[in-house]
Amino acid sequence: MISKTTIDAVFETARVEEVIGDFVQLKKSGSNFKGLSPFSDERTPSFMVSPVKQIWKDFSSGKGGNAVAFLMEHEHFTYPEAIKYLAKKYNIEVEETEQTDEQKEQANERESMYVVSEFAKDYFHKTLINSEQGKAIGLSYFKERGFTEETIEKFQLGYSPDVWDAFTSEAIRKGYKLEFLEKTGLTIVKEEKQFDRFKGRVMFPIHSLSGRVLGFGGRILTNEKKAAKYLNSPESEIYHKSKVLYGIYYAKQAIAKEDNCYLVEGYTDVIQLHQLGIENVVSSSGTALTPEQIRLINRLTPNITVLFDGDAAGQRASLRGIDLILEQGMNVKVCSFPEGEDPDSFSKAHTLTEVEDFLKENAKDFIQYKASLLVKEAQGDPIKKAGLVRDMVESIAKIPDVIKREIYVQECARIMDIKEDVLFNTLAQIRNKGKKEVAKPAEKRPSGGEMVPLKNEEKIKFERQYELEQNIIKLLITFAKEPVEFVDLVYDEDEEGKLIEREEKRELIIYEKIYLDLQEDEVEFANDDFKKIYPLLIEHLTQEEGEIKLDKLGELLEAAQMEKISSIAFEPEKHELHAWDRHEIYVKTLKDNAGLETVQTLLNLRHFLIQRKMAEFGEQLKTGELPENAQEFMEDFKDYKTLEVLIAKKRNLVIMPFMR
Ligand code: CTP
Ligand code: MN
Repeated sequence: MISKTTIDAVFETARVEEVIGDFVQLKKSGSNFKGLSPFSDERTPSFMVSPVKQIWKDFSSGKGGNAVAFLMEHEHFTYPEAIKYLAKKYNIEVEETEQTDEQKEQANERESMYVVSEFAKDYFHKTLINSEQGKAIGLSYFKERGFTEETIEKFQLGYSPDVWDAFTSEAIRKGYKLEFLEKTGLTIVKEEKQFDRFKGRVMFPIHSLSGRVLGFGGRILTNEKKAAKYLNSPESEIYHKSKVLYGIYYAKQAIAKEDNCYLVEGYTDVIQLHQLGIENVVSSSGTALTPEQIRLINRLTPNITVLFDGDAAGQRASLRGIDLILEQGMNVKVCSFPEGEDPDSFSKAHTLTEVEDFLKENAKDFIQYKASLLVKEAQGDPIKKAGLVRDMVESIAKIPDVIKREIYVQECARIMDIKEDVLFNTLAQIRNKGKKEVAKPAEKRPSGGEMVPLKNEEKIKFERQYELEQNIIKLLITFAKEPVEFVDLVYDEDEEGKLIEREEKRELIIYEKIYLDLQEDEVEFANDDFKKIYPLLIEHLTQEEGEIKLDKLGELLEAAQMEKISSIAFEPEKHELHAWDRHEIYVKTLKDNAGLETVQTLLNLRHFLIQRKMAEFGEQLKTGELPENAQEFMEDFKDYKTLEVLIAKKRNLVIMPFMR
């Protein structure tokens, strides 16, 4: 683990505008920087970076956060990878916290395996390009397949000489340990003898998301019937087949940008499509798709288009893969190629426009695809048709999102010409059965499990509270240290000892006012994100002098929460982007009115909560029965009634507060 000191040092030093400046061309715009969104194709800049707040916001995609969030989003780094990247950029030494001896050994072992794999990749590539045998056999093979030199370079393709131990002996001569050559599977050790696993094959290095070599695929060049066409690295400490997708390193930017991922079967499909100009493509390399692989794609986009070779057997087998994708809450389209063609051969024989058009025309939604595939078999056979419908509803049942399920049921009803009600019933049956079967704790799903649609009235109330809470967070982020003037009601005793109410003008700082008011009524935020953000902001504000540093919060919050914060923080700038607001009237008014807005928002929230409480009391009283703890109930009721009156009075005072 990276130590806290290192992480702190990174956050102290890194400047968001410098970090982003390495990837996006930024221009100064007022106190901010502006640029073209790196997450979408746009002509007018809607990407903003605030050096003061140390955060960024992309208005075209809605993304935002601190420097680390940018790297995670743009480079698809994990959190530790982003920290290490920044440490390197700013020459900060990365300090790792104490590891046990066992952990150290494991980390060292993995590191050594990476190093050996990197060496092997270079060796195979050099052999392909420079050696006589490599050029004559390997390179000419790739050229024949239509790969350009640029492509061969990019994918670091290679050749393993047709000699029993050419690679192994070279590696050992260079000082690499046999232990790691064996553990990565590059060398096979048998009775004291060593053999190259990939002897005489052309080599495809397999990269991780961040570009490290994990393993290899090697293709045979002869027509030997006995030997496997492709040989792959065995499972190892660094190469887990089920978690790897071939091509992901080269495809990640394009997948995020296109917001879609093409999934193909083979190495050569990936490379050929890439060469043609379609870069958002990865391959599961001949194995059945796994949930881990799907999640890897899901980090980049929720949309997958599966491209099938044009043979029926392959298509049947892959139907299972589709259900798996649906289960992860992703959207699936399917496209099959003409009989006898695969994406490789098809893109080799066509232009980019032709392939793009083909994909556009033939990519079908999974429901249509299933229908078209099975409907032929079921023609004129009611029993088969019933089976087919059930098959489709079973797929739909895998979708976690209720709204999507509903849309698909409608679609299925239309295609199969069946009443929706019948399908909904079947769906309910399947899902109920599924629930009982999956008694074990279900995995957290991205789009959240069952949604109960809110009634309209409930929905409005819910939105009102959300809006008020959001406004409070906004005030804390944007104007926390501005003064707020307000009129308070205070109570004095007069000469005769009677309690009199007096209005008093008071002044506080906005965040103090918010904190004190909410504490007074023990108000808790309803929204989970705000509930988490609020105490952090208060703590931060009571500790920091001067400007609030939002990027520091990034350490403590989840990405989604940080995204929320940056949207709120950039609200004023958002208006700057629109032509109608060039004069910055909006921004100025906002700041001048911040105090008033604070007082109003707080009172409105308290008013809202009390009204709701009073409604609850009302419901209870309507039943005509008092609850068991009747006395307590009545006292609470009285307290709330008093508070209601007080808040009402205060709200009246606020209407024209500074005219008095
Ligand atoms: N595969 C494998 N082992 C095999 C055969 C196939 O691992 N014995 C994997 C490879 O990743 C291969 C993919 O399955 O890329 C698809 O197989 P296939 O369609 O047979 O190969 P192609 O990609 O079409 O390869 P080529 O065009 O070189 O024949
Ligand atoms: Mn193929």
